[in-house]
Parts: sequence; C-alpha cells; structure tokens
Amino acid sequence: MCGIVGYIGGEQAAPILLDGLARLEYRGYDSAGVAVYTGEELEVAKAKGRLQVLSDMLQGGRAIQGCTGIGHTRWATHGAPSDVNSHPQVSRSGRIAVVHNGIIENYSALKQFLERQGVPFTSQTDTEVVAQLIEYFYEGDLLQAVGRVLHRIEGAYALGILCADTPDQLVAVRRDSPLILGVGEGENFLASDVTAILKHTREVIYLEDGEVAVLTREGVRCYNHFLQPVEKQTSHVDWEIDAAEKGGYEHFMFKEILEQPEALRRAIFPRVQDGQVCLEDFPLTDEDIQGMRKIYIVACGSSYHVGMVGKYNLEGLLRLPVEVALASEFRYQQPIVDDRTLVLVISQSGETLDTMAALREAKRLGGKVVSIVNVMGSSIARESDGVLYTWAGPEIAVATTKAYSTQLAVLNLLGLYLAQRLGTVAQEEYQTIVQELLLLPAKMEQVLENRADIQYYASQYFNHASVFYIGRNLDYALGLEGSLKLKEISYIHSEAYASGELKHGTISLIEQGTLVVALATYSRLFEKAMSNVVEVKSRGADVLALTTEGHREEMGKVANGLVTIPDTHPMLLPSLGVVPLQLFSYYVALMRGCDIDKPRNLAKSVTVE
Ligand code: F6R
Repeated sequence: MCGIVGYIGGEQAAPILLDGLARLEYRGYDSAGVAVYTGEELEVAKAKGRLQVLSDMLQGGRAIQGCTGIGHTRWATHGAPSDVNSHPQVSRSGRIAVVHNGIIENYSALKQFLERQGVPFTSQTDTEVVAQLIEYFYEGDLLQAVGRVLHRIEGAYALGILCADTPDQLVAVRRDSPLILGVGEGENFLASDVTAILKHTREVIYLEDGEVAVLTREGVRCYNHFLQPVEKQTSHVDWEIDAAEKGGYEHFMFKEILEQPEALRRAIFPRVQDGQVCLEDFPLTDEDIQGMRKIYIVACGSSYHVGMVGKYNLEGLLRLPVEVALASEFRYQQPIVDDRTLVLVISQSGETLDTMAALREAKRLGGKVVSIVNVMGSSIARESDGVLYTWAGPEIAVATTKAYSTQLAVLNLLGLYLAQRLGTVAQEEYQTIVQELLLLPAKMEQVLENRADIQYYASQYFNHASVFYIGRNLDYALGLEGSLKLKEISYIHSEAYASGELKHGTISLIEQGTLVVALATYSRLFEKAMSNVVEVKSRGADVLALTTEGHREEMGKVANGLVTIPDTHPMLLPSLGVVPLQLFSYYVALMRGCDIDKPRNLAKSVTVE
C-alpha cells in the first residue's frame, strides 16, 4: 500500500530516491520522506501531502548530499497523515531510520515495553516501534539487532533500514508485504515494486517471506529468518520502462484504457494455437479436472467483479457449481473446500493481503489453487499451485482497467480449456467462442473509437449526485464494475442493482432526474431489460443505456441516451461493455476536476487487512 525505495552506491541517493518514489506514488500518497547518510549522520526530510511537496523542499534531491538512503511514500494506517507520522521513522538517537509497509500488529505491547525502559516516542505510528526496538537491541551489529526484532514483531511488513553507525549497508526485510532487491553494478537497490528501480537495473531478487537482506555497494547477501545465509536467484525483468510512464497522456488511467486491446492481444493470442486454447504449465491433470466438484473464485474489488462474470460464464460452460467469494470474507465464513475444489484466486497486484490470506486458507483446506495475476513473481503467484499471468503490463492508475479486461479474458480462456477437457461444451460452440475471443481486441478498438459519444454523455451527467447501474445476469456483474469505477474516481455515490431487485425496495430511490445506467447487452434478457428501463423511466429516471448494435434501434426508442458495443458471443459482452463504463467514469471525474490516477483514501495495492 505504501511505497519503499532504498539506494546504496556511488551516486547521490536523494534524487534517485525521489525518482523511485514518484513511480510508486500510486501506492500511497498522503505523505513522503527520505533519510540519507550525509557522511556523519542521517538527514531526514519528511512532508505531509504529495511527493511534490517533499521534492520541492529538497530541490529535487539536491538539498541532501549522500550516497546511501531510504525513502517512502505513505498511505496512512497507524497515525493520521502528518509530517511527524511520515516515514522514515527514526530511533531516539536519530541514528537508525526505518521505512515500513504493512502493519505491526503487536506494536502497542512493544511500545509499552519500550516506554517502561524510558524510550520516548514522537509519532503515533507502529513503525517508530520498529526503529526504537532495533536501537534497543543494537550492540554494534545492525543485522543481529534486526534479527532479534524480527522474533518480536507480528504482522505484515516490508522494512528498509539504515543505521548511521553502519552506513556501508542497508538492511531489508519482508513478511507478507512485497519487497524486491535490484542488483546493479557498484550500486544496489531495494523497492516495494519493480517500477521504482527499472530505470537503473532489470536484475531483481524476489525476497521470500521471513527473509532478510543486507545490501552493500558491492553486492547483496540474503538470510532466512534465523539469519542463516540463503542462496537467491536473480530474475530478469523485461517490462519496458515506458510502459510505466504516461507517454504524453494526461492520466495513466486514460492511457491504460486505450492500451486494453493490445493487452488483450498479449493475454489471448499466445494461448490460442490452431483454434485450441493452450495453457502452458497448467497444474491440474486431466484426472484432477475430471474429479473437480466445485470451483471457488476468490478476489477483492474489481478482481471480484471479474469473478462475478466468471461465475455466469464458468457455470454455463462447465455445469459445475461456481461460488464467488470476497477474499476478505472467505476465510471467516468456513468455506467448504477440499481436494476436489478448484480455487481461482484473481489479483492484479498479486499482493492483496486479504486475497493472499484466502489463498492460504484454501490451500490449508486442501483446495487446488490457480491464480490469475498480473505482477510476475508476486506473492500470490508464487504461493499458488499454478499461475496464469495476464500480461497486461504495469498498471499504475489506482482504478484498474486493463487488468480487469485481461483477467476476464484469461478466466474465459480457462473456462474453455476446462470445458473441453470435461466435454461440457459442443465443438461448434467452442470454436465460436475462440474465434470471438480472437476478434475481441479489434472490437474493443471500435468501442474506443466512439469515445466522443461517451464524453458527451459525461458532460450531460457529471453533476449528478447519485447514479444507479442496473442489469441482469452478466449485465449485473458488469454494472458492479461500472459503479465501482464511477464512485472511486469521481466520488459520485453510485450503486449497482440486479434489475429484478429494483421492485423489492430500491425503486423508491428513483425520482425525477435520477440517472440510471441501464445495461442491456445480453440478448437473452433484452426484453426484460427493456421493461426495467420503462419501469424506471415512468418514475422520472433519466436513462443512459448500453446495448449491442443489434438492439440499437429498439433501445433508442426509450432511453434518453444510448451507447452501443459490437455484437459478440454473450460470454464476451462484459469485456466490451466495460470499456464505455470505464470511459464514462473517466470523463465524469475529469469534468469534476478529480485527481483521477490517485483518488482520495485509496492506494493501488492493499497489503493490509
Ligand atoms: C478498483 C481496484 C480495486 C482492486 C482491488 C484488488 O479499480 O483496482 O478494487 O481491484 O483492490 O486488487 P488486486 O487485483 O491487486 O488484488
């Protein structure tokens, strides 16, 4: 949720730290700070607000001299956003500085213990406890002191630690929160996300849970939780740096919306060979697949909405029960999972803590876990029995777009793959869906070309205080995502309803001028969708409808505004339908002057429970 960068080498550290933090700012952005060893002491600079405030304060980094440092951009959990609660947090002597992502769950008990020893605290953060505790145990060897602290702290953490007495090294630690090491020549890095260091090196080491690393200018040494040395592999990252840059667009979100056709090509095309879906390294044997009795899809937020679409599609294709669970609920609801349950875990970041916890619970219960993940080498990818990467490229905007689309494509591919092995899909139907999947990127390009229409509707409706999304079946699942997109970036209250539920209470909220976005792409239920449009219109609603080309005329007769998508196989309608909804949210937020890429109170990767 927050961002960490660390540097040790021959260059000035502060500009490198600030540049890395700028690339991580999407992970948290209520305050930021750096600590640099100046040759005698640690100089710490912190500021509430966006990174720019800190950067201006430090003249882009020129105001602090030194070649070793750590930096942080924060999304507050313990202690409100303020200068004093920003990271790095330092020990009482000012000689140990710590940046931290995650939560130290037992910080209160540790704080009381230290206070009884006379240690004064200045912030409300759990992180200060770590800095103070390291100092408490420090007897000249930073690694040993950190080792002792690790046996006392509980929770999720990625830590970057710098000590003025041992400035020739940085210490890094991770448990349940991402942290990677970047290996350079005569310089080394640590970061919570590879995008922060991609400019300097593409060689990275993924730390495992409980591992500790010591970085010097010359190299990196890794240890397990008991400080025994461990051998680590270096991985090469082949993402292009410009994939994580705005490239002339005003917002990452807009750029990422436009990147979707290309991202779909990357996710789909290599997995279709001679008209057949091929999933390399799929961990389930044909026997496992035949033995499957149930599928669970577990995820959060938009990834959960992908799961909602997946439920309709997979149940239709496989004739097996598919349950979709919010990851944050899954482990507390006594899920019925056994070795004949396939658990599909969906996560863009691969680091969402709730999703990770659900994955572990599913494995504990004996389920086979296959994850659909975007970030290579992420925790969820590594802990799953098998992983299907979405290959969407780095997604920087907090509101997901291309990750949603590629997750959906991969889930559909997986459905086809399993259906063929189970013999639950007719060959002709299978071929039709595969062909339509291959056409999806081009059809999505058509939808994107018509964005001026959506911009026009956004200009008509951007002042509404409340918006309802209604739809049935796949259109309901689509509405959930459309509604979330709108509320998270435009701050307009919005809700998604299964149209049939309106008459059970919600319709009382419809009054003169209420905006209802009616989703009516699914042919089989088009007539029913029309009835719902008439129903809300007769209560005064303004209806903006989304349907397919084939239904344009009919819907045009009743809706106040109309957006269409090309016809395709029903399973794939949400993949096209989501694009106008993303664009609508984007334009509405733009017209309302919102901070689109960094909406308030949110962060890209949610590594706290
Ligand atoms: C919304 C959004 C979030 C994420 C959710 C799960 O636009 O991006 O709802 O979908 O936080 O994140 P991942 O997929 O990284 O597990």
